[in-house]
Amino acid sequence: MNGQQRMASGFPEGFLWGTATAAYQIEGAHTEDGKGESIWDRFTHTPGTIERGETGDVAADHYHRWQDDLDLMSRLNLNAYRFSVAWPRILPDGYGRVNEAGLDFYSRLVDGMLARGIEPFLTLYHWDLPQALQDRGGWANRDTAKAFADLAATAARRLGDRVSHWITLNEPGVASVLGHVTGEHAPGAHEPGLILPVSHHLLVSHGMATQAIRAESPRPMSVGITLNTGVVEPASDREDDVVAARLFEGVWQSMFLEALYRKAYPDEILTVLQMIGGSADVILPGDMELIATPTDFLGVNYYTRMIIRAGAGSTPLPEIVTPGGPLTEMGWEVYPQGLRDLLIRVSATYKPGVMYVTENGAAYPDMLNERGEVADPDRLRYLERHFLAAREAIQAGVPLKGYFVWSFMDNFEWAKGYRPRFGVVYTDFPTQRRIVKESGRFLAEIAATNGAALGEE
Ligand code: FCB
Repeated sequence: MNGQQRMASGFPEGFLWGTATAAYQIEGAHTEDGKGESIWDRFTHTPGTIERGETGDVAADHYHRWQDDLDLMSRLNLNAYRFSVAWPRILPDGYGRVNEAGLDFYSRLVDGMLARGIEPFLTLYHWDLPQALQDRGGWANRDTAKAFADLAATAARRLGDRVSHWITLNEPGVASVLGHVTGEHAPGAHEPGLILPVSHHLLVSHGMATQAIRAESPRPMSVGITLNTGVVEPASDREDDVVAARLFEGVWQSMFLEALYRKAYPDEILTVLQMIGGSADVILPGDMELIATPTDFLGVNYYTRMIIRAGAGSTPLPEIVTPGGPLTEMGWEVYPQGLRDLLIRVSATYKPGVMYVTENGAAYPDMLNERGEVADPDRLRYLERHFLAAREAIQAGVPLKGYFVWSFMDNFEWAKGYRPRFGVVYTDFPTQRRIVKESGRFLAEIAATNGAALGEE
């Protein structure tokens, strides 16, 4: 590629093009080599929790197929990969005793990436809390944050010589609300009063882990967090809808941004969280400073726009309205301009030095055709439009340095099991064969040309 093409692409030199995955969604090997039980192992084995009773016991069998998977990533010209470690694979009891075989797996995986010129982005927590910690209260218990700092230190000691980019938590807002209020995710609680302690302890754990990584690493590290971010809009300009949207947005995303970048929870959100049963006693002196420990980047996961209205009832809870526009298989609206707007707004408001899109992608019902290929024009177009939106954000001055498509391959999509396919690579689960989809070939071309192959909107 010549210099002119590089300039013309609109993406800065050295831009990272990758895909993202999470341990529980792809690894399988749920009891192998000394791995402990996670809350997702327990939850998926509880009847009635997951569509069709599916589990991540085998998932995409990545634990045994990682070399082929990395080979495929390099054939797709990808120069970065965001993956997560399974906490109970490294610390089966949650803290203390280290399972060397678990750490060895990630060490080999990291070496494999570096050998192929793929930059590792390691997420420490993508929702698979050790069950041993859940038995002592999970994220409602402050000790879980200390245990997380132990995980961070253990991983940084062993991998910090080779892993330069660390993501502490994935989407703490989702872990808090879907895990503890709607019960759709592990551990499956239905207690709104848990939002405050759980969200707060997750943020405290982020601060502690950030400091632990820096203390243990032999060289300067780039440390950040990944938040669930979307565009949230009220269904109408009626006051109750406007308030509902503001509360939803606050609990879902801005309480995290405000705590991380401004050392405070918004008053209105704190009041509501207390009204629904949360105690502010969990916020100890010094916590807000700890949470706001400076980081090097912010990761945003963007999928859609959410339209919110006030629910019925005496204490109306916000409700998500299904929009009329084109929807993906998740029922999520395709709304690319939201990515541009969100990147611009978050960058202007909180000024993170560097930003990454750490997840973006779409589920569609893919099928293998008679030629053994997967045509997925809807996903291809979804990605193309979101890449264009990211390019516009960069042109508007957003310091975006990389883009990770969710996901590398079809995998276990939490409560929805294997039905939603998000991969740019098709996973044929009965044989575990990987087949590159058309969107995968498109991504490979974008990565090879650093975006120069993108057209205009
Ligand atoms: C995000 C999760 C990821 C995946 C996508 C579709 O909320 O971080 O694991 O499930 O949604």
